[in-house]
Amino acid sequence: MERGKVQDNPSGGKPLLRSLHGETFSPPPLWLMRQAGRYLPEYRELREKAGGFLDLCLTPEFAAEATLQPIRRFGLDAAILFSDILIVPHGLGQKLEYRDGEGPVLAPIRSLREFDRLDRRDLAERISPVWSTVKRVRPALGADTALIGFAGGPWTVATYMVEGGASRDFAAVKGWAISDPKGFGVLIDRLVEVTILYLRGQITAGADAIQLFDSWAGILCESEFRRWVIEPTRRIVAALRIAFPDLPVIGFPRGAGLMYRAYFRETGVTALGLDPTVPLGVARTTLQAIGPVQGNLDPVTLLEGGAAMAREAAAILENLGGGPFVFNLGHGVLPNTPPEHVQQLVAQVRNTALA
Ligand code: CP3
Repeated sequence: MERGKVQDNPSGGKPLLRSLHGETFSPPPLWLMRQAGRYLPEYRELREKAGGFLDLCLTPEFAAEATLQPIRRFGLDAAILFSDILIVPHGLGQKLEYRDGEGPVLAPIRSLREFDRLDRRDLAERISPVWSTVKRVRPALGADTALIGFAGGPWTVATYMVEGGASRDFAAVKGWAISDPKGFGVLIDRLVEVTILYLRGQITAGADAIQLFDSWAGILCESEFRRWVIEPTRRIVAALRIAFPDLPVIGFPRGAGLMYRAYFRETGVTALGLDPTVPLGVARTTLQAIGPVQGNLDPVTLLEGGAAMAREAAAILENLGGGPFVFNLGHGVLPNTPPEHVQQLVAQVRNTALA
């Protein structure tokens, strides 16, 4: 990849997609993980109207509105479908609830036998509202704005299914993977299959790119990382490429550290999402050399705003802006973030070519 090559967008096409295909833009395209959410007053109002978070995700009219809210406010280069990674376990018939202040709570599954007891007959019906959301959003976006669909990585989804929600030590899910790798492998295989179905539906409905959120990739040792993160991701990417050979897939194995490189090379993802701990020099020399990267401002830096944020954002742009790059956070926007800080960040990134 030729470094330092800078261009505007003379031949048209969505900047996000062109960056993901390896072009260098100055300023780079920009969107933010969790750009829709509680930090926006219009989101809180919509969530109130929808009744609950799950109702919001599964009512296409409301979910489409939530998807568009940050685009209207900030004019970002991509909308990300408003949904959640736990719609997949919900589709498989696992009982799921979102409790205020507690996050998601699921009836935990600790063995293959328990998994097989789930009633998954209504899978397509349960997940199809998400596809309808994509269909509704598509025509509401401008010609330069991409629509990103997403799913959780099978490992991360499995952590929630087995632990029954958030976890401190992941003893139940790791314990199952260690004591019964065959059985746990069947759970991962099923999740790979459903994830492919779920994502194919999103792409067919109009998603331009896909992001795989593997938020808990960083808690595994090397052999486990290869088996439960790289291998399932590789299979999902390969399956999507059969029907959609040019479709960009962004892999986000949060916290993968020294395994980021193997993940990028071996999964076949188009671009790599970096968390805030990835050193910028390493990102430039060893990861951006493989392909486009995305990231990685710390969400707490965005929460605090001001000069510290401006400094960090400038360092990211300086290090990564000379190659194929998408500006983003290194994890999702935090609920107490002042929207003005997002505005400030967007203005800074948009002005980088002039700096
Ligand atoms: O990025 C976007 O704006 C699109 C929507 C989106 C949500 N969740 C909405 C959401 C996306 C891409 C996700 C991904 C997701 N969901 C991940 C991967 C990324 C990450 O944050 O690590 C994970 C692990 C989940 C599971 C999940 N959903 C948790 C742990 C929680 C509780 C924590 C929290 O922030 O409340 C959720 C709830 C959730 N997902 C909310 C939103 C806007 C908050 C729900 C509310 O309105 O109360």
